[in-house]
Amino acid sequence: MLKFKTKHKILVTSALPYANGPIHLGHLVEYIQTDIFVRFLRLIGEDVIYACADDSHGAPIEIKATELGIKPEELIEKFYNEHVQDFKDFLISFDNYYTTDSPENKHYSDLIFNKLKEKNLIYTKDIEVTYCNFCKRTLPDRYVKGKCPKCNAPDQYGDVCENCNAAYKTIDLIEPYCVICKNKPVRKSSTHYFFRLSKFSGKLEKWLNKNKNLQPEIRHFVLNWIKNGLDDWNISRDGPYFGFKIPGEEDKYYYVWLDAPIGYIASTDNYCKKHGLKTEDYWNSKNSRIYHFIGKDITYFHFLFWPAMLMGADFELPYDIVVHGFLTVNGEKMSKSRGTFFTAREFLQSHNGEYLRFYYASMLSKTMSDIDLSFEDLNKKTNNELAANIGNFCYRVLNFLNKNFEGQIIDIDNNKELINEVSQKIKNIEKDYYALNFNEAVKDILHISSLGNKYFQENEPWKLINENREKTHRILGLCANIVKNLSVLISPILPDFSLRLQNQLNLKNLKWNGIDFGLRDHKTGKEEILIKKTEGKQEQKNVFPLNLKVAKILSVKEHPNADKLYVLDIDIGNEKRQLVAGIRGHYSIDELKNKKIIVIANLKYAKLRGIESQGMLLAGDDGEHIGLLTAAESNPGDKVYFDGYENSTAQVTYDEFAKLKIEVKNSRVYFEGKELKTGKEIVKVEKAKDGAGVR
Ligand code: 2FM
Ligand code: ZN
Repeated sequence: MLKFKTKHKILVTSALPYANGPIHLGHLVEYIQTDIFVRFLRLIGEDVIYACADDSHGAPIEIKATELGIKPEELIEKFYNEHVQDFKDFLISFDNYYTTDSPENKHYSDLIFNKLKEKNLIYTKDIEVTYCNFCKRTLPDRYVKGKCPKCNAPDQYGDVCENCNAAYKTIDLIEPYCVICKNKPVRKSSTHYFFRLSKFSGKLEKWLNKNKNLQPEIRHFVLNWIKNGLDDWNISRDGPYFGFKIPGEEDKYYYVWLDAPIGYIASTDNYCKKHGLKTEDYWNSKNSRIYHFIGKDITYFHFLFWPAMLMGADFELPYDIVVHGFLTVNGEKMSKSRGTFFTAREFLQSHNGEYLRFYYASMLSKTMSDIDLSFEDLNKKTNNELAANIGNFCYRVLNFLNKNFEGQIIDIDNNKELINEVSQKIKNIEKDYYALNFNEAVKDILHISSLGNKYFQENEPWKLINENREKTHRILGLCANIVKNLSVLISPILPDFSLRLQNQLNLKNLKWNGIDFGLRDHKTGKEEILIKKTEGKQEQKNVFPLNLKVAKILSVKEHPNADKLYVLDIDIGNEKRQLVAGIRGHYSIDELKNKKIIVIANLKYAKLRGIESQGMLLAGDDGEHIGLLTAAESNPGDKVYFDGYENSTAQVTYDEFAKLKIEVKNSRVYFEGKELKTGKEIVKVEKAKDGAGVR
């Protein structure tokens, strides 16, 4: 068996999430995959640290902060705190979670930049950029929209058309407009810094071919990219930008993708300083092993730009870069409009984070295939595999032992066949964890608890105890040893379950070498059911088909093609949306600004006179007056609900909404006799009289 145990200094990283949005279920595939690996390495005695950080720079962060009227530093701090809490609740065990907006990252970014520049691996060149004269800023591709030059589809981003998939430059768009102010941008010349990626083709090829850990499928298509020729890489951006200024420049910054991966080094450094370790032992030593975990969408950055930068600046190259696929929900790409987009926080409102770990683990291997989350399967897996198999075995063993033998384990039944079979599975599980084949590890763990259940069942200890008490005691002793082994085997995946199970066993902090059949002369503690079936839990709550949320109106414009409509930009917590609403004539623009209203967040997007409405606001309508539903004391994104009902997040159509009978009485809103409210207040209706319908 391959064991490096503390021979190497191992550093493991996950990709750094952007500090301008919440952690969602797609992100969690990666953090859970990485965390299981790291926990396994710690358990088996490897010298490993797990470092990560928020990716806190870039144009979207600067733009979002400007829109919200706050400093970028405030924005990234808010998301940093949210991310840390989300990761904690999914039991992600970073040794260090930092930010790329740190002094360490500035130090290493400048160090690497200067080194590359000294070696003539960086040069400057004038290029054409898209500039908005109204916003006074250069516009990144995603901030220019227009008609696709190939298929004429309206409202396409500046880089690719979502309708026909054509790729083009912002300059090619027909009738381009600035996403921020909707005005027409201009082209302008600007000097930029380029990294000579093209010089690295040969070295990168060699590294890709030599490094046997990399997934063959990935190696293959990265080699293909190289064969087709690598372009030099623009590593600078013009201000306003949130990032580190380029040395010697007044208003030019490192492109976020330059300093983001350097954040891996900076987070390591921050950890090392706190723990009396040396950063060089990880990043400048042949004795280290650096593992990056990433999603397939950022392959180019991690297999080309990043190793080339490391080579150019004389740092150690990654030992492995593990690439996983995307998450689909119910077989489809996650989508806000289809109601299949869930943040980590939303998931936790109705599910246990540990069960998601188990679900993902049961599907993860070292491949790029996408994995699918179906809530039905999640419940099935939790019930049939966790509760009915592992949970049940552990509980019945401890329960029987406590009831009949006061929890004492004296000796074990020397059943060679069973012990051998379990031991063989344990060896496989160890290999599978090392090889990142968690799906296989889960199968074998379940196999062990099935063997245990079968052994318990076939021996009928509840009968045997009357005939042969000693034998029964030994059988339970063997079962208890299997329970103990399971508590270790499963702990990378279900750390909390493992902890509580070991607690019941009166054991603590078992490591991989604690897996054996040697537990004797030991008294277990009180048993408890550790995994409850989730059956019915979901179905019992009445489901209300609308996902209602508090929204704050950020800006209002008149619809250019309809005199009854406004176009509103709204904030619904972690997201901005655009709504088209028929309240012109009832509200002035000034009355609307900053108002906190109620919107349907899961309504199918629709075009109203050529402009997309990403949801709908709710208003009371008595035939004469139209008055908005408001929640002045609540925050954007807060849940709005009728007591006893759980809002559905599945997409609804306008017709489905129109069928619901929601009424106004006393300036309040009712559905089936229940009042509409947020966690903080009762929702109020302006203007509309009693008996008004809500639309
Ligand atoms: O794609 C992303 O979400 C990036 N924030 C990942 C950065 S990973 C690393 F290079 F910093
Ligand atoms: Zn603009």
